[in-house]
Amino acid sequence: MALKKGLFKTSVARKNMMAITGLFIIFFLVIHLAGNLILVLPDSFFPIEFWGNVANQHDMYNAYSHFLVHFWLITLVAWVLYIAIILHVIDAILITLNNRKAKGDSYAVTDNSTSTWYSRNMGILGTVIGVFLVIHMAQFWLQYKVLKIEHDLYNLVLATMKQWWFVVIYELGIIALGFHIVHGIESAHRSLGIYPKKVMRVIKYIALIFGLVMAVLYAIIPIILYFK
Ligand code: HEM
Repeated sequence: MALKKGLFKTSVARKNMMAITGLFIIFFLVIHLAGNLILVLPDSFFPIEFWGNVANQHDMYNAYSHFLVHFWLITLVAWVLYIAIILHVIDAILITLNNRKAKGDSYAVTDNSTSTWYSRNMGILGTVIGVFLVIHMAQFWLQYKVLKIEHDLYNLVLATMKQWWFVVIYELGIIALGFHIVHGIESAHRSLGIYPKKVMRVIKYIALIFGLVMAVLYAIIPIILYFK
């Protein structure tokens, strides 16, 4: 009994950790999207008389990426982000293993009629995002931020998106991310204890709209750059 209680407590703690790290990652993804939308805005959006030394989209994107690397607060937030991603992944693996164990238990009932396919397949969606993220980080983060091989991030992103297989990888990763966000927001609120049914229904709709908007906005970037 005491062991069961302990296990229950542990799984609640794990779900809370998953929720908090997940919400922080979503916060990053909104900012990251805003920065990368520069890539699809027309040059006329950056009048030199307004932005000072920035005259076009190319300059603006590189000014943004320079700011990312040289402002201490962003560096600090980036480190919190890396830790949040690592904890989120470890937690996801532990929860999946735990769920698998519970499925072997005759008391554990999985009711497929009340859950969506994406909520039952968070592990698979998470794995697709994980593979995408490794490719994405190797391509941009590693070359620009860590190894400093490439200094013009705009050119690097543009050259990458001119290769159709990268566009396909991005679209797959972003679709998986959209579903992951929808289910993630819903379950994060459940884990953090905001539970009345009416509120949950509203949160479900907000999550759906938010996930869709995020996925569509992210998805258009590689496509527009490919045809640019
Ligand atoms: C079209 C979509 C995207 C573009 C053009 C893009 C571009 C970039 C670039 C240029 C960097 C390196 C510079 C920087 O640190 O910001 C980067 C970093 C990163 N990206 Fe993306 N990204 C996209 C989508 C995504 C998505 C969907 C995710 C998450 C699933 C993601 C997660 C990250 C992370 C975690 C970093 C490292 C952040 C840091 O070190 O501060 N990106 N991205």
